[in-house]
Amino acid sequence: MAKGFYISKTLGILGILLGVAAVCTIIALSVVYAQEKNKNAENSATAPTLPSSTSGTGSSSTSTAAPPIDESKPWNQYRLPKTLIPDSYKVTLRPYLTPNAQGLYIFEGSSTVRFTCNETTDVIIIHSKKLTYTLKGEHRVALRALGDIPAPGINRTELVERTEYLVVHLQGTLVKGQQYEMDSEFQGELADDLAGFYRSEYMEGDIKKVVATTQMQAADARKSFPCFDEPAMKAVFNITLIYPKTFTALSNMLPKESKPFDEDPNWTTTEFYPTPKMSTYLLAYIVSEFKNISSVSNNSVQIGIWARPSAIDEGHGNYALSVTGPILDFFGQHYNTSYPLPKSDQIALPDFNAGAMENWGLVTYRESNLAFDPQSSSIGNKERVVTVIAHELAHQWFGNLVTVDWWNDLWLNEGFASYVEYLGGDYAEPTWNLKDLIVLNDVYRVMAMDALASSHPLSSPADEVNTPAQISELFDTITYSKGASVIRMLSSFLTEDLFKKGLASYLHTYQYSNTIYLDLWEHLQEAVNSQTNIQLPATVRDIMDRWILQMGFPFITVDTTTGDISQKHFLLDSSSTVTPSEFNYLWIVPIPFLKTGQEDFYWLSEQKNQNAAFRTSSDDEWILLNINVTGYYLVNYDESNWRKLQNQLQTDLSVIPLINRAQIIHDSFNLASAGELSITLALSNTLFLVNETEYMPWEAALSSLNYFKLMLDRSEVYGPMKELSEEASHTPLLILQNFNQGLDSSSSNTDGAGYNEINAISTACSSGLAECRDLVVDLYSQWMQNPNANPIHPNLRSTVYCNAIAFGGEEEWNFAWEQFRSATLVNEADKLRSALACSQEVWILNRYLSYTLNPDYIRKQDATNTIISIASNVVGQPLVWDFVRSNWKKLFEDYGGGSFSFANLIEGVTRRFSSEFELQQLEQFKADNAATGFGSGTRALEQALEKTKANINWVKENKDVVFKWFTDNSS
Ligand SMILES: *[C@@H]1O[C@H](CO)[C@@H](O)[C@H](O)[C@H]1NC(C)=O
Ligand SMILES: *[C@@H]1O[C@H](CO)[C@@H](O)[C@H](O)[C@H]1NC(C)=O
Ligand SMILES: *[C@@H]1O[C@H](CO)[C@@H](O)[C@H](O)[C@H]1NC(C)=O
Ligand SMILES: [Zn+2]
Repeated sequence: MAKGFYISKTLGILGILLGVAAVCTIIALSVVYAQEKNKNAENSATAPTLPSSTSGTGSSSTSTAAPPIDESKPWNQYRLPKTLIPDSYKVTLRPYLTPNAQGLYIFEGSSTVRFTCNETTDVIIIHSKKLTYTLKGEHRVALRALGDIPAPGINRTELVERTEYLVVHLQGTLVKGQQYEMDSEFQGELADDLAGFYRSEYMEGDIKKVVATTQMQAADARKSFPCFDEPAMKAVFNITLIYPKTFTALSNMLPKESKPFDEDPNWTTTEFYPTPKMSTYLLAYIVSEFKNISSVSNNSVQIGIWARPSAIDEGHGNYALSVTGPILDFFGQHYNTSYPLPKSDQIALPDFNAGAMENWGLVTYRESNLAFDPQSSSIGNKERVVTVIAHELAHQWFGNLVTVDWWNDLWLNEGFASYVEYLGGDYAEPTWNLKDLIVLNDVYRVMAMDALASSHPLSSPADEVNTPAQISELFDTITYSKGASVIRMLSSFLTEDLFKKGLASYLHTYQYSNTIYLDLWEHLQEAVNSQTNIQLPATVRDIMDRWILQMGFPFITVDTTTGDISQKHFLLDSSSTVTPSEFNYLWIVPIPFLKTGQEDFYWLSEQKNQNAAFRTSSDDEWILLNINVTGYYLVNYDESNWRKLQNQLQTDLSVIPLINRAQIIHDSFNLASAGELSITLALSNTLFLVNETEYMPWEAALSSLNYFKLMLDRSEVYGPMKELSEEASHTPLLILQNFNQGLDSSSSNTDGAGYNEINAISTACSSGLAECRDLVVDLYSQWMQNPNANPIHPNLRSTVYCNAIAFGGEEEWNFAWEQFRSATLVNEADKLRSALACSQEVWILNRYLSYTLNPDYIRKQDATNTIISIASNVVGQPLVWDFVRSNWKKLFEDYGGGSFSFANLIEGVTRRFSSEFELQQLEQFKADNAATGFGSGTRALEQALEKTKANINWVKENKDVVFKWFTDNSS
């Protein structure tokens, strides 16, 4: 790939920096940037608030004696009975976009649900949450039969808060096979809680604007109207919206008819076409004053991109529009199934909980994941937009057309989309090598979690996932990234063509209905059986069971003197005890490998085997396993093979595939962390970087070395580390100055070169290089003098802002704060928000921390992410830890124990923990808050405890060795 002059030169310097000084200091910059790039479309921030109704008595539910719950009653069980099956709904909603007399924003609604009785019953159980029923008359609902036998009378209705049901007790029974309709009228709050039918706000000039929008997944459609709110309860939805006539209404389908509302001519009524049969969690309706741009895809799908009018006017939707058509066409071919709906709208919302949501035909996004500004957004922003769009559009078939039966199979839905997002993104941007990035962004990222004894299997039994909090907890890195990793591995050993064949057959068979993951395996097996080219050592199901039903992954060890090959469960702390597995932590492992330039393939189905193919004879003959890291495992070799690989890399690295150059670094550092390999061997594996010009190996090294920094930046080792890297990086001033200029020509795309530059400047600045500091301070002060002309290249903004704020004082911080407050582009605001956490002043960080809980300053959707940014700063970390410890109860109550972000918060604040004292504090924290609980952060807390213990061991074993390595390698 062609790269500009500046890059290779800078990389030369970095080579010295890392190759000689090796463990140079990767400061908060790269950490901040990594966070900005953080993946997981739907998984990146705070989540729906936990139903406060789960504890009707408030937070004290654990201490007060509630009346015993009769679990045998169907309305006390979280799963719906199988007695009634919905056919269709007619739902009319009227959101008020100004507050009522009590200062509350509300919506009114009416609904008719038609259902068929599948088993005789005298009770109707339907989900309902935080709705007030307003139907006049004795009961909350009206019931009628569509068949000949009249409906029984209603005895009484009740709302069961714990299980979120409206329960209609009947005087007689419903008749099996008959259809009924039930009417209701209700009111709900259009709250700013980011869940169900909710309110988002933004400013246009001095005017506050309100949007009514939805986020139903996983279990909040019930907060908008009474419904059978489980993914398998598919039905047809007829949606009608009533809204002020100057607004625009959107829903899953195109509008069928709009007319003035008969009760008030200032309002409009729009009825939408009936949806296909679909799940409640994929519904969406939005009333806003947004603008759109549109086009028509090759296959006649109407495409719309919606956003705040000023964002559309400034062209921020153009990039999304340009990639959507190609991505839709790509998936239509990939699935061999045309797009199921007549239109595809995508909308950028100012307040949005997750990263994006794949509502059928109306995908919602956090603004930063859809809006792109060629002048001010970075390549990271652009990559994110295209991959998130591809992820959501992939769901329009896989997930929406065919839906998993229950949330325990969420991993299949999300893992699949997290894999094919790279294929769709690659189709739209073929020059970026996007497909390779899954290895860094998903495979390696999740391995770090999955290497703990407190990890968990991908798949869980359906009956272990019941409450909304249990469902929320599933939206984790394992579900997304391990799901993506093992599906990619499967697709790779089957070959993509065969995989596609099975996939299309699966989609055709189950369209408009529901499946379990075994249904996909079965269709893939049929595809395998229909050909003779590919021989598997076992069925698809047998192979995959080992990867999805037991947690973790193996490391494969090859001894090239004997030809022995073996596998073992990889644990960061090999002394930890793990829950037993029916497969004894053995896997059926597909191993593509390279020997003497020849690619070959091997299946390891046993714990240990021997094969002549793994024996090497001559001095320069080496072996390399897991080509392109298509397999979800690590690889270890005997020392002589490692040395041969090092030699090869240092003489001609192009012989080793790019991804494997990253793998050699990644795997050896991880094996070293677990004590399976010496740390100095891992460090020597980085020496070839002097000649490396590609992004992936560098990124693998930087993130591996970041761990050193996290463990050692508060210890005496850090002094020599920093000093040494400073010494080694007497960089010519010229090159850094050219950086900012050179960018224009070289890094307008995401082919890795741009990321390299970001990494290079981050690293140079972080090692305390005076020239870098001068450059950053100079650029920033130019900007302060002329705020309307930001001279900093968008790709470098995160880095430059962070450094300038770290070097600066109150004035620099306040300037960034002002810019943050007035930024109209969310990408820009996000960069500033992260950089504000880079201050070295305790009082400034404390003040910033207090801002994070004030929604007037920091939007709720960004609160935890901002706190985590502060925690990743070595100065901020203890402040955040004190803050979390003393405010846990309040945080937990305000932000909901069922939200996704508590796991991230705990992980973020404990990342540096590596001393006995910190371990004690963490254990104390666990004990102190046992009564409040940890909700969806429960597992994260266990992981943090385990990780801290592993860190303590690592520091104990490696601190002196690393110290010595530094001393030995310094001048
Ligand atoms: C209908 O009821 C039968 C039991 O009578 C049950 O097996 C089946 O799953 C139910 N159908 C649905 C769609 O729930
Ligand atoms: C929804 O619309 C479809 C198609 O017009 C219609 O057949 C169905 O009866 C409607 N459902 C309800 C509950 O009104
Ligand atoms: C209504 O329910 C109550 C309590 O379950 C019961 O005692 C009563 O007989 C029911 N009335 C009718 C008319 O079914
Ligand atoms: Zn998804």
